Amino acid sequence: MNTTATSAHETPVLNVGLLGAGTVGSQVAHVLLTRGDELALRSGVRLRLCGIAVRDTAAPRDVELPAELLTTDADAVIDAADVVVELTGGIEPTRKRVLRALQAGTSVITGNKALLAESGRQLQDAAGASGAQLSYEAAVAGAIPIVRPMRDSLAGDRVERFLGIMNGTTNFVLDQMDTTGAAFEDALAEAQRLGYAEADPTADVEGHDAAAKTAVLASLAFHSSYTIEDVHCEGITGVTAEDVAAAREAGYVIKLLSVGERCGDGVNLRVNPVMIPREHVLGGVHGAYNAVFVEAAAAGSLMFYGQGAGGEPTASAVLGDLVSAARAIALGAQGIPLADYAALPAVSMDDVTTRLAVTLAVTDRLGVLARLAQVFADHGVSISTMQQSEDPRVTGTSLLRLVTHSGRHADLMATVEALRSLPVVRDVVSVTPVETGE
Ligand code: NDP
Ligand code: HSE
Repeated sequence: MNTTATSAHETPVLNVGLLGAGTVGSQVAHVLLTRGDELALRSGVRLRLCGIAVRDTAAPRDVELPAELLTTDADAVIDAADVVVELTGGIEPTRKRVLRALQAGTSVITGNKALLAESGRQLQDAAGASGAQLSYEAAVAGAIPIVRPMRDSLAGDRVERFLGIMNGTTNFVLDQMDTTGAAFEDALAEAQRLGYAEADPTADVEGHDAAAKTAVLASLAFHSSYTIEDVHCEGITGVTAEDVAAAREAGYVIKLLSVGERCGDGVNLRVNPVMIPREHVLGGVHGAYNAVFVEAAAAGSLMFYGQGAGGEPTASAVLGDLVSAARAIALGAQGIPLADYAALPAVSMDDVTTRLAVTLAVTDRLGVLARLAQVFADHGVSISTMQQSEDPRVTGTSLLRLVTHSGRHADLMATVEALRSLPVVRDVVSVTPVETGE
């Protein structure tokens, strides 16, 4: 540790190396540059911004930054720092840079869920070997304190499952589609303008960003190491205005849900668009807000809610980690290695118990319902509710909206495939899992 105090009465100085000055990094830099006295009182050390690594030092910034701090030499920033704040994103060269810092014993704060969900174990091991701290509150659900509660506050409990809305962009898009009838593309463009979306919004709309967060949070919740590969992932690009309207009519809202739950001897991790009752706590999460609902054996139900994206909210989580790391460094404390002793295997989606909402376009004639009901019975799948209406698009066709009772996911999907092959079924319009939150 290079923490230095020039006299016995002066506050020691901690050199902070910042990698990235985009949406989040520029806000972190702004606070370090404008609220240094306050942060020094809170952390016991003066947090001195010693360098900011970017791709293009001449690029326009959201906030004014001292030109002399900007550089394209990230390694020089890392080597000069007592603590590194990584807000560049991506896997490489970021992974090598974070490892460089951790291997040198320099603590790292990052918001990079993509990196953590790919190489989290490697980074944790490097931190454990050198005694550095690796902190990443911002990596899951932006400003919401959920990483620390999962890692520390619930360390004595047994987490049974978590359900979360953990991607602000997709929640914003789905919410706009639900409340204003906006088209998918317009809502996405607005989310990008507001700084919620990743540089490439594919990661948001295809569910990869939420899947990465799910892997990161599940690793903490279930004391195991998961990567994004362990998460069943479906995005929202297939969700149509008709699906949203039909769900609304039935009293549901479509949300991109991240779930981690114990399932047999393992854990199922999934991200997919699901219908949830409008009155469910997660049904009332609007805009780019995120929420995580946790069920633990002793604590019972816990709800975490707040802004999941955006420069300032995310910077809040980063700065919280920074103050916390600075306090520990000031005390000479080492990082606490993260155990993955439980090694609970990731269970396939096939074996999960779910319910499905299925919309079928069927020929409107005698005996059709009986034929469909037989297919459900043959697969041991029970129908909970059914609504029939005329299909406004095709004469002589009915739209059937069915919701099943709970069943094994593979059996439910096999039923849908059997329905699809019936001559009376003209189209399987949509298949959406239903999450009742029970
Ligand atoms: P931006 O794309 O806005 O900013 C990225 C910054 O990193 C830019 O300043 C860019 O430089 C710099 N950069 C990129 N690649 C390199 C490189 N190879 N070498 C040096 N500098 C580089 O990203 P965000 O601020 O939105 O996100 C940063 C991280 O925080 C990501 O991991 C993201 O997933 C995470 N995060 C973001 C949230 C958000 O709401 N935006 C919320 C939670 C987490 P230049 O400016 O010169 O191009
Ligand atoms: N693109 C992400 C989101 C940023 O929309 O939630 C926060 O991780």
